Amino acid sequence: MSFYNTFVRPLLFSLPAETAHNFALSSIRTFLRPSFIQNVLSKRLCVDLAVERFGLKFKNPLGLAAGFDKNCVAAAQLACLGFGFVEIGTVTYKPQSGSPKPRLFRLEADKALINRMGFNNDGAEVVVSRLKKIKNRDFILGVNIGKNREIEEIEAVENYLSCFRLIREEADYVAINVSSPNTPNLRKFQEADKLRKLLKSMQEENTTCIPILVKISPDLSEAQIEAIVEVCLETKIHGVIATNTTVSREGLQTASYEIQKAGEGGLSGKPLAEVSNQVIRKVYRLSQGKLPIIGVGGIFTAEDAFKKICAGASLLQVYTGFVYMGPAVARDINLGLQKIIHQKGFASLDEAVGSESI
Ligand SMILES: Cc1cc2nc3c(=O)[nH]c(=O)nc-3n(C[C@H](O)[C@H](O)[C@H](O)COP(=O)(O)O)c2cc1C
Repeated sequence: MSFYNTFVRPLLFSLPAETAHNFALSSIRTFLRPSFIQNVLSKRLCVDLAVERFGLKFKNPLGLAAGFDKNCVAAAQLACLGFGFVEIGTVTYKPQSGSPKPRLFRLEADKALINRMGFNNDGAEVVVSRLKKIKNRDFILGVNIGKNREIEEIEAVENYLSCFRLIREEADYVAINVSSPNTPNLRKFQEADKLRKLLKSMQEENTTCIPILVKISPDLSEAQIEAIVEVCLETKIHGVIATNTTVSREGLQTASYEIQKAGEGGLSGKPLAEVSNQVIRKVYRLSQGKLPIIGVGGIFTAEDAFKKICAGASLLQVYTGFVYMGPAVARDINLGLQKIIHQKGFASLDEAVGSESI
């Protein structure tokens, strides 16, 4: 049992979930000194898992998923915990307060969370000013963008573009979120025609050729995934992030009254793992490995991470696993991954990508 599991997690889990999240994030921002952690980690994290995708060199394949640091208040400190990259956001053009509280719930029996945060964030202008203040940034930083809640469909593309124009100079890549279940009608932008229009407009605006990725839902049919892959290839999108949270509540261990008490929202964590693996497999197969995939959903251990690599992901992200496993999760997964790759006889992580995608 680690210090986190024995002492810190019980303390954090005694608080309401969003309070615990805010407390953890501000503690990370206040108490973690990047130079100190880097010294500690560089001694113990001697992994050779570097990955190059869409022109970016990642120190290791495991990133922190969007939603943990929505406003870019602790990206540098989080990067030092051993993550190969950090994705901040979702950021919207205008600030917004998100859904009414409570809006984040733990399902401990399932090692899962349900959230309906609804893109609470400080808005692109404020987030950009924070990005500009990060000195000598030596980690890869993605910015995940979404649309403002009150924006109607007809103005949505312009709303995404306004956000994109503000943040693109400060990001290494941009993730377009069309898959959060907590903004009404957002997921409609996964429909081929709407997605094509959005992505074409983004690419026309993308004069600096920054990598653009699309984050998709786990609740898509095979035909929908096929259409999305086609549009992504046609519009020369750099990659797919699979997946966001699910609206399904199938196969949960948690008592049904507790699930009902949590109410609507996206489910993340362990129950999402295999569902997201299936989406990764389909995207890899349908794109014949041409679309780099960031695999996310239910990663807690190196074994979980390796399954996603074999399914076709070349990069990975974690959110709920970080909440349950604590600050050593990136280090532990990376060390474990390196071991597994060597044990299975692969010369590199790249060789394992998609090895079980059929
Ligand atoms: C509390 C919470 C907030 C989230 N906020 C966002 C968000 O703002 N944008 C986004 O693209 N994904 C968001 N996500 C989804 C995660 O990035 C990730 O795709 C999902 O949780 C599956 O990964 P996991 O099982 O490792 O948590 C959020 C997830 C949680 C639990």
